[in-house]
Amino acid sequence: MSFRVSIRQWPSPFSVAAGGTVLEAALAADVPFPHGCRSGNCGACKCRLEAGSVDLKPHSHFALGQEEKDSGLILACRAVPREDLHLAWLQDDAELAAHPLSRFTGEVLSVDALTHDIRRVRIAPPPGMRMEFSAGQYARLTFAGQPPRDYSMASRPDQTVLDFHIRAVADGSASSYVAERLTAGETVEVEGPFGSSWLRERHRGPIIAIAGGSGLAPISSIVETAIAKDLPQPIYLYAGFRDERDVYLEERLGELARAHPKLSVTIVLSEPSGPTERRVGFVSDVVGADFDDLDGCKAYLAGPPVMVEAAVEMLEMRDMRPEDIHADAFYTEAEKAALDRTS
Ligand SMILES: Cc1cc2nc3c(=O)[nH]c(=O)nc-3n(C[C@H](O)[C@H](O)[C@H](O)COP(=O)(O)OP(=O)(O)OC[C@H]3O[C@@H](n4cnc5c(N)ncnc54)[C@H](O)[C@@H]3O)c2cc1C
Ligand code: FES
Repeated sequence: MSFRVSIRQWPSPFSVAAGGTVLEAALAADVPFPHGCRSGNCGACKCRLEAGSVDLKPHSHFALGQEEKDSGLILACRAVPREDLHLAWLQDDAELAAHPLSRFTGEVLSVDALTHDIRRVRIAPPPGMRMEFSAGQYARLTFAGQPPRDYSMASRPDQTVLDFHIRAVADGSASSYVAERLTAGETVEVEGPFGSSWLRERHRGPIIAIAGGSGLAPISSIVETAIAKDLPQPIYLYAGFRDERDVYLEERLGELARAHPKLSVTIVLSEPSGPTERRVGFVSDVVGADFDDLDGCKAYLAGPPVMVEAAVEMLEMRDMRPEDIHADAFYTEAEKAALDRTS
């Protein structure tokens, strides 16, 4: 048995086998359904259920709150149809970044230390090939003998070589491999782009960009792209780190801010080990102290899930509309699996 699903902004319906999720079936049918984590954690696949009914598998409150559920929103990656469905994407048609999915074997050009635990990895696609993506999206990388993991592009979409900032997670498989063993010349399987937290170039309100640690990868791609495209609005970039030794990319961001007065850069330390002249605290609290009303602004957030959740809450309390908040929380596979185990 299967159910038919149609989407208001997409011409062809697709079918979902009994027990399957809407997102799995959409991607298998090559429908560019906006999504991120595929595990009910990020909210990127949120859509409106216009007709029909679904069972929703467990998901985080951050991804879909009770009020949103009551107003008819569902998460496609957690929605198992009970009957035929009509859905609508929340984004405008003009906002859908539908790039073709690329899969290729790339070559690692260099691995450099950005901090004691973050490596910059530069990957070249095969000659003549290029991965189309929007600033802020991510790719799934598989290093030799490692499980596939998601990493955000730090480079701009118009650059052929892809840059990644990969932080070594304690006892983490792929990130420890990158930190300890990856060398230039190795190959890596690349699949992407994914993610819906990309730069909305048509929006003209101020941009609030908030990064935690290696969350600066997609956020720097967004900021660099907004500047390269000469978007006219002010950009407020806040980068949160634990301590001085964790700060990176400051020189490049300072250079950009000096050349483009519409960009302001604030570095925030959450746990400085010594006296500092920098702003101190959780990055979300520092942004909250600087702005009273964020209606009409757009926010891009990336980094550890707790930081992203705190920042979303702060932005909503300052009247930012949910559709103007675009977030990528760097969930690990273990965190994603924890939700699945409760299904
Ligand atoms: C959309 C997205 C974008 C991302 N972008 C970036 C980025 O740009 N840069 C970046 O640095 N990271 C990014 N991440 C995080 C990245 O994908 C990986 O999760 C991270 O690098 C850890 O992977 P790993 O293989 O090293 O760790 P894993 O092997 O997955 O382990 C992660 C943690 O879980 C623990 N663990 C492992 N297995 C289990 C288990 N069975 N039970 C309990 N605990 C377990 C480990 O001890 C470790 O502490 C992103 C994540 C997402 C979802
Ligand atoms: S893709 Fe569905 S919540 Fe992340």
